[in-house]
Amino acid sequence: MAARRETGWTYPLALPPAMPAPAGTLASLRRKAGRCRACPLWQQATRTVFGVGAPDADMMLVGEQPGDREDLAGKPFVGPAGALLDRALAAAGLDRGQLYVTNAVKHFKFGLHGKRRLNQRANAREQAICRQWLAAELREVRPTRVLALGAMAAKAAFGPAFRLTAQHGQWLPLPGGVWGMATWHPSAILRSPGERERRLAELTGDLQRFAAGPAR
Ligand code: URA
Repeated sequence: MAARRETGWTYPLALPPAMPAPAGTLASLRRKAGRCRACPLWQQATRTVFGVGAPDADMMLVGEQPGDREDLAGKPFVGPAGALLDRALAAAGLDRGQLYVTNAVKHFKFGLHGKRRLNQRANAREQAICRQWLAAELREVRPTRVLALGAMAAKAAFGPAFRLTAQHGQWLPLPGGVWGMATWHPSAILRSPGERERRLAELTGDLQRFAAGPAR
């Protein structure tokens, strides 16, 4: 498949990448991202976790960054957060086959606690550098709806002032005719036992609204 032409495409997110989106098809971008050395995160990661799913999906889900299990498998959302996401997707009548699922950052960042590799958040510079890959995925897939999972992806989509607590589940217009929404990250739900049921219900409700599409 030839790379889609840039003509007529507008980068839809509020925060731009720190470097231009590489050219190429999804398959070649995946290969190039596998060799990415643009920030130091590749050094400790096992592999680059590029997006997966329908190459012409109407709906794109953007998570934060891969965790331990994703780093080993090379696929987004295959660990506990992915299991919870699948549960909520099923409850909302969505399945991964109709989606393109990716992350804002493509390498696992962690600190060692004994033998355990515990997630560390990619910093703003690492996020900005890595956004070149998300920009390229958006350009190739051209979704009309983007769902940000968690604050990192939400702020990339809607800007630093975005607040998940107040604004999750709201449809917001993005440049280029794309519609965006943000919702709770499944990992955040797993980490907050006291609020788990309420937030899971909110995630499911937001996914239902996302599946239904914006009222135009
Ligand atoms: N959390 C994410 O944001 N993405 C993954 O792929 C896994 C966990």
